Amino acid sequence: MEKLNGKKINTAVFISGRGSNLKSLISCFKKKNSPILINLIVSNKPNAKGLNYAKKSNIKKYVVNYKNKKITEKKILNKLFDSKIDLICLAGFMKILSSDFIKKFKKPILNIHPSLLPKYKGLNTHKRVIENREKYSGSTVHLVNSKLDSGKIILQKKVKIIKNESEKSLEKKVLKAEHKLYPKAIKKFLSSSF
Ligand code: GRF
Repeated sequence: MEKLNGKKINTAVFISGRGSNLKSLISCFKKKNSPILINLIVSNKPNAKGLNYAKKSNIKKYVVNYKNKKITEKKILNKLFDSKIDLICLAGFMKILSSDFIKKFKKPILNIHPSLLPKYKGLNTHKRVIENREKYSGSTVHLVNSKLDSGKIILQKKVKIIKNESEKSLEKKVLKAEHKLYPKAIKKFLSSSF
């Protein structure tokens, strides 16, 4: 996937909370010559802190409620098609997209996960990593498919776990690495033939 006719790739970022990865993506890709244009933020939480970046950066936001997943996914798809979105970046989006959604969207969906996949799929990664006395953890950017945290890996960043590392300190360390990793992985993905 490359810039379409020199045009930037319209991108939607999906969030559910804090949005620190969204923030780093916005600041990295606001440059004139960047390959993507973030023009939609989707959140399943009306009070997600990350939604503040929509206003600050003049990006459209779309808040949905997930009472009925099928109907909600249909609404999101329509919004994505209306906004001519060609790429989705999940950044702390706490809902699982159905295989039907992935099939219908037809275009790439990326996700960032706070572990060295294929290890530690799912939730509470830092807790499990520490309990298992791992020497390293990290983060992974991967393509989304219908199996949880299992799509093709694009890029990973390792971090070292120190003695007496806490869940909190590991989360902080991984998050800091993620803020560099996600933009780098997106660029790598766009310039390759994944
Ligand atoms: C990140 O650690 C990401 O890997 C995971 O959820 C967290 C989101 O953090 N999927 P933030 O909302 O981007 O600050």
